[in-house]
Parts: sequence; structure tokens; C-alpha cells
Amino acid sequence: MVADGPTSAGAPIDILGVTQAFRSGGKDLPVLDDVSISARQGEFVALIGPSGSGKSTLLRLLAGLDKPLFGEVYVGGAPVTGPDPSRPLVFQDPTLLPWRTVRQNVAVGPQARGILKQSRGRIDAALELVGLTEFADAWPAQLSGGMAQRAALARALVGDPSVLLLDEPLGKLDALTRRVLQGELLSLWRERGFTAVLVTHDVSEALLLADRVVVFSPRPARVREAIDVDLGRPRDQSTREFNALRRHILEILDADQTGPDRDRTARADHIARLDDKEVLT
Ligand SMILES: Nc1ncnc2c1ncn2[C@@H]1O[C@H](COP(=O)(O)OP(=O)(O)O)[C@@H](O)[C@H]1O
Ligand SMILES: [Mg+2]
Repeated sequence: MVADGPTSAGAPIDILGVTQAFRSGGKDLPVLDDVSISARQGEFVALIGPSGSGKSTLLRLLAGLDKPLFGEVYVGGAPVTGPDPSRPLVFQDPTLLPWRTVRQNVAVGPQARGILKQSRGRIDAALELVGLTEFADAWPAQLSGGMAQRAALARALVGDPSVLLLDEPLGKLDALTRRVLQGELLSLWRERGFTAVLVTHDVSEALLLADRVVVFSPRPARVREAIDVDLGRPRDQSTREFNALRRHILEILDADQTGPDRDRTARADHIARLDDKEVLT
């Protein structure tokens, strides 16, 4: 329960041989190709890959919004059969209802489940967790981008998630707000103990936050590599180790974009240039 302080609520994840395709224009569009990813209880996993490779598709499977064509998805040892408040999905766009206050937005889930009355404490606790207590009665239009995303996080936390699914949640925020929210996300993860799956296109963000970074190939996505981030916390982006990991991930992504036939020197140059950019896709 949110109101009861920290729980060891994290659930392990097992994605086993998942293949997904969509029917598009009379043809099958393969999106995920035999993808297997596991996460330990309470692990923070970042997922990075080219635009359109299938990252959001994978999160939707974990959220129970879609079913895979082949393969299995388990959370906490049980197959995922549908959406559940214990597996909320947070999007890039906070999608707050404009005619509801911040508190009423956070209350949407409990209200829909008919447990609004007994959830008052949890709603207040969720608002407190994201630092929005003073803005509980504000309207979404009155919030900054960062505050709106905090409200979206509170809405996800109110269900006491065992798995928090994050689809580029900080993607639209300015660099400074983004840094602040990265820190807050990390504190929430530490405090609440949920397993986190963060889709991001920012290699540094993945390395700042995650225990492990899974790199996807272009669509149909296969797991190119899963990289353990053996760096202590808090992390320092300026260290040699951090930059070695960053360079390694950029190399994988860049090799996919330029193709295997390109001249190796040209590719190395390209990587050096990419190195100066945070954002890849
Ligand atoms: N419901 C759907 N129907 C048809 N095509 C889809 C559907 N959902 C996603 N796609 C396609 O699957 C591919 C992967 O999408 P997505 O998972 O959103 O990629 P990413 O999040 O990595 O950018 C894209 O080509 C997208 O157009
Ligand atoms: Mg996406």
C-alpha cells in the first residue's frame, strides 16, 4: 500500500520467445522477432532501440494491452492476461483529463474500480511521493510539463505497482526538468521497490538510471545485446567507465543504422560525432 511506506513490491518479468506482428495494408508487419528478456524482482531495465523497432509494442504486451502472436509474457510468475493497476504504463504525453483536478486525475483508477473512498490515503500518499501535495487542486492546464508528468506518475503509483512501465516518459521535457525527474524517478524506484522497464532513446538516461540496458535491433526487433551497468549510484556521467558503456551502446545502434558493409573508419568517425549528441532517434 502506498500509505504504508516501502514495500518489496517488485515482480520479476519473463518475456519468453515473443514474436509479434500486425496486419497492415493486407500484409503482416513483423515487429518483434523471438524476443526474450527477463528482469529480476525490483530490477531497473532500460530498453533502447531505433525508432519504430517495437519498444512500445513490447511495453503494451507487458501492460496486457495486447497479446503476443507467439511466446509468453509472465509477471510475478503468472501469465499476463490483461491490464492491471499493478502494471501501469506511463507515456511521453501525461494524458491528464483537463476537466479534472490533479487529485481527481490521480483518483481515476481507484474510482473506476469502485474503491475511491478507501483509497483516499493512497491518493494523498501518491501526490506526496511526487511532490504535488500543494497542487492537488490545480487544473492540468496550470501545470508545467514536469509537474504534469509527475501527476501522471502519481496516477501510476496509486495502484502500488509491482512493475512500472515507462514509455519515454521524460522525452518531451526540457533538459533541466528532465534531469530533475530522472533523479525523482530513481528515488521513487528505490523507495517503492517496483521493477522498472524504461523505454528511452537517450543512451545517457538509460545508463544513469538502469541496472541493465537492453538494445533492440531495427524492426522486427531482436535483442542485440543486454548490457549490465556495473556502475555505483549516484552515477557520474563524466567517468571513463560511463563513457565506455555509452560508446559501446552507440556503436551497436550505429552499426545497425549504417549496415555491416560500410567502411569501418567512416563508421568510427560517425560514432565519434554521435557521441556529442544525447539523443539518437
Ligand atoms: N496496432 C498496430 N497496428 C499496426 N501496426 C502497428 C501497431 N502498433 C505498432 N505498429 C507498428 O509496429 C512498429 C513498431 O512500433 P512501436 O512499437 O510503436 O515502435 P517504437 O516504440 O520502437 O518506436 C511500427 O512500424 C508501428 O507502425
Ligand atoms: Mg514507442
